[in-house]
Amino acid sequence: MVIFWANTELARNARASLQLSVGGTGSEGDVGEVAISLNVNGDSKECAAPPTMRLSAALRDILNLTSVKEGCCEGECGACTILLDGKPVNSCLVMVFQARGREIITVEGLLPETGLNSLQQAFLDEGAVQCGYCTPGMVMAAEGLLRINPNPDEADIRHALAGNICRCTGFETIVRAVSVEAAARREMEAGR
Ligand code: FES
Ligand code: FES
Repeated sequence: MVIFWANTELARNARASLQLSVGGTGSEGDVGEVAISLNVNGDSKECAAPPTMRLSAALRDILNLTSVKEGCCEGECGACTILLDGKPVNSCLVMVFQARGREIITVEGLLPETGLNSLQQAFLDEGAVQCGYCTPGMVMAAEGLLRINPNPDEADIRHALAGNICRCTGFETIVRAVSVEAAARREMEAGR
C-alpha cells in the first residue's frame, strides 16, 4: 500500500514545522544558505540553499529538475510528487535538509537515453495527458505503486493516485494508462 504524506501525521507535522521555521511562508525564510548534499537520480548533487527551503523548490529552482511542479505547496495537489527512498511523497512538504542522505528520484531519473519511458508513453497512448501539469506527479505516484505492486487492480491504482489532482482528464485515462503499463511490465517480466 502506498502511503501519502498528504494524509499522514508526518505531513501535518511537516506543515507545522515549515510554518514554525519560516514564519508561515513555506519558503526559504530568513535562515542563511548552507551547502546541502543530495542524492538525486543516482548522482550526488550539491546545492546551496536555506535548510528550510521546500525540497520541491530546491529541485526545480536550484537543480533545474523542472519535472517537479509546484501547485499548492500545501500537500494537496500531488504535482510535486517524487520518490523519496522509493516512496511517493509530496516534495513541497519536505524541507531540503530533511532529504540529505536519502534517495530522491524525479521523472528525469526514469528517462531512457532518448525519448520517453514506457510509463510516460502509456500516458500519451491512452490520452492521459492534456495540459500536462499534473503528469510528472502522476507518473511518480504510479511508478511508486508499480514498484511495490506489479499487479494493481483499478481500486489499487485509484488509491495510489488519490493524492494527485488532475483538472483536465477526468482520471479515467490516467487509471487506464497505469493499468496498461502494469500489464506491459508483467508481460516483459514473464518473457525473461
Ligand atoms: S505542490 Fe506539493 S502537493 Fe501541491
Ligand atoms: S492534464 Fe492538466 S492537470 Fe492533469
